[in-house]
Amino acid sequence: MAPHRLLLLGALPLALALPRASFPRAPGNSSSSAAPSHVTPAPVVPYSSSQAHTSFAGTPTTTGALSETPIGPGASSLPANPAATTYPSDGELHSPEPGPYTPAGGVGTNGTTPVYRPQSDFDYESLALALYQEYIELDLFHDGLARFSAQDFEAAGLTAEDRSLIEFMADQEVGHATMLTNILGAEAPRQCSYVYPYTTVHEFLDFCQKLTRFGESGVYGFLPHLDSRESAALLTLSITTEARQQMIFRQFEGLFPMPVWFEAGVPQSWAWTLLAPYISSCPEDQTRLAWQNFPALSILNQPNPVRINGSAAWNETVSSGTNVLNSTAVPSSQSCLSSNTTGIDCSPAITHNRTNPLSYPGREVQLSWEVPGKAVGPNNSYVTSTSAGRPKYVAWVTQLNVTYSELTLNGSQSGSTIQPDVATYAGDPAINGTMFIAILDTDLYVTPFNITMLNPHVVAGPALYQSG
Ligand SMILES: *[C@@H]1O[C@H](CO)[C@@H](O)[C@H](O)[C@H]1NC(C)=O
Ligand SMILES: *[C@@H]1O[C@H](CO)[C@@H](O)[C@H](O)[C@H]1NC(C)=O
Ligand SMILES: *[C@@H]1O[C@H](CO)[C@@H](O)[C@H](O)[C@H]1NC(C)=O
Ligand SMILES: *[C@@H]1O[C@H](CO)[C@@H](O)[C@H](O)[C@H]1NC(C)=O
Ligand SMILES: *[C@@H]1O[C@H](CO)[C@@H](O)[C@H](O)[C@H]1NC(C)=O
Ligand SMILES: *[C@@H]1O[C@H](CO)[C@@H](O)[C@H](O)[C@H]1NC(C)=O
Ligand SMILES: *[C@@H]1O[C@H](CO)[C@@H](O)[C@H](O)[C@H]1NC(C)=O
Ligand SMILES: *[C@@H]1O[C@H](CO)[C@@H](O)[C@H](O)[C@H]1NC(C)=O
Ligand SMILES: *[C@@H]1O[C@H](CO)[C@@H](O)[C@H](O)[C@H]1NC(C)=O
Ligand SMILES: *[C@@H]1O[C@H](CO)[C@@H](O)[C@H](O)[C@H]1NC(C)=O
Ligand SMILES: *[C@@H]1O[C@H](CO)[C@@H](O)[C@H](O)[C@H]1NC(C)=O
Ligand SMILES: *[C@@H]1O[C@H](CO)[C@@H](O)[C@H](O)[C@H]1NC(C)=O
Repeated sequence: MAPHRLLLLGALPLALALPRASFPRAPGNSSSSAAPSHVTPAPVVPYSSSQAHTSFAGTPTTTGALSETPIGPGASSLPANPAATTYPSDGELHSPEPGPYTPAGGVGTNGTTPVYRPQSDFDYESLALALYQEYIELDLFHDGLARFSAQDFEAAGLTAEDRSLIEFMADQEVGHATMLTNILGAEAPRQCSYVYPYTTVHEFLDFCQKLTRFGESGVYGFLPHLDSRESAALLTLSITTEARQQMIFRQFEGLFPMPVWFEAGVPQSWAWTLLAPYISSCPEDQTRLAWQNFPALSILNQPNPVRINGSAAWNETVSSGTNVLNSTAVPSSQSCLSSNTTGIDCSPAITHNRTNPLSYPGREVQLSWEVPGKAVGPNNSYVTSTSAGRPKYVAWVTQLNVTYSELTLNGSQSGSTIQPDVATYAGDPAINGTMFIAILDTDLYVTPFNITMLNPHVVAGPALYQSG
């Protein structure tokens, strides 16, 4: 660990709500418009890159999500706002222009000084969730580098340069955590302790690829709903970096980098459900979250990317929820790791074709899920819950669409379904890549902007399905 990474608590002016790192200015010279030759960089959040990774064995001092009474019934479906369909959308200008080359409209375009701070509980809780995510990524990328030797990485086809890239990605998380902390202020959540399911480099890469998928999708779900457009602007600039990380981990795993035309957004509680099990404990007085933890969902025949025929996998995961691959479960005769034949070779690469796709429409997918009431997350202090009725459908959340398939029950907490055959647009099969499935009590029609209305109907999940 490099000494410059050791930062002490107290080094950070936590209460500053402005993202100073993004807009450095020479103190005391407001007349300067040119960038000064040297500015002391804004400090970053305190963190450790050498934490223990053990399960929490104690007793939580508090239990349950943050909540505030009275708790209402939730939003019900309403018709569209009539004013939302009146703009002519004909390519002409319809209002006087406030200035040259300045079409009328937009939010935050009238010259009002931007304020980079949460404007509602929704904002705070969403940004705090994103911060929990940035911190686990920071720890995770360091942990992979610390846990596996250079030889382990070389054997998985990753060079010293590749490892430097993983280290750089960890450093990016320091910046993301700092930016969100500056927005949230003094009570921003801090770095926690984590526990991971992987024991090999391939499992680590698959875990990173899946964790960054729900990190990215979890933000896309709330980004357009934030009251603070200013915060949304900065978060967009960090989540685009996260999207690149997700793709790089797919490439390190030998997967096709981006087999979809769009990336899906999911509700905050879906991201929190997937994230929380890997946080073992958080510091005393850690700011808690208001999101729901749903019961965990396991994919018994989760496609395994290190198999020549990935869809032939049975019980080859090391965790529920993320359903990360088990690399030691695959006999060497069925492993694609040591092949150099195009179509089979799954070593790290910019891209690979797979002769046998990881999944296909019509595939029977076997599922099992937990009952609610399990203690999960930091200090085991959150509890899984559901308000849904009987399990009836599997929701496939991918790209722009939520599609349903019928669930055939097999016992009270297990069942099977058939992978649907749907396209987002002609030429773009909807189900591909690392995507989300969940067990629902109904086949509610939702679109990307109102997908959160699924939450009262979630029986279990989400799980990450490795469809391609
Ligand atoms: C302020 O900025 C101006 C223009 O860049 C520069 O000439 C001047 O030296 C600066 N003054 C101080 C005190 O830094
Ligand atoms: C979600 O939005 C779509 C329009 O995009 C609408 O048809 C649908 O009814 C909405 N779903 C719910 C549950 O409100
Ligand atoms: C500018 O726009 C903001 C919202 O974007 C609004 O709150 C504010 O009143 C507007 N200011 C003026 C001077 O019109
Ligand atoms: C969680 O555990 C840590 C480490 O034992 C402890 O410092 C912290 O106070 C605990 N927090 C809660 C909410 O129980
Ligand atoms: C791959 O495995 C699936 C599931 O066992 C099987 O149906 C399929 O025929 C296999 N494909 C090949 C090419 O062996
Ligand atoms: C999956 O494998 C684990 C150990 O490898 C075993 O404990 C478990 O019972 C298996 N589950 C199923 C559904 O086959
Ligand atoms: C991974 O697979 C191996 C070999 O089947 C098995 O021994 C091990 O228990 C599995 N790991 C987990 C976490 O299920
Ligand atoms: C593929 O692997 C075989 C056996 O390991 C080796 O002889 C051959 O040179 C390799 N081909 C390429 C193109 O790397
Ligand atoms: C890779 O797959 C694409 C699309 O299926 C196909 O057009 C192309 O020929 C394949 N390339 C190789 C080298 O197999
Ligand atoms: C996913 O995309 C890859 C790359 O285009 C393709 O080879 C594969 O067949 C697709 N899988 C499914 C399930 O459509
Ligand atoms: C339920 O699923 C398990 C695992 O796939 C299978 O072994 C069992 O036969 C199934 N039972 C029924 C009644 O379908
Ligand atoms: C998927 O979403 C797009 C964009 O909303 C829509 O045009 C298309 O009809 C949807 N496809 C399916 C199968 O639902």
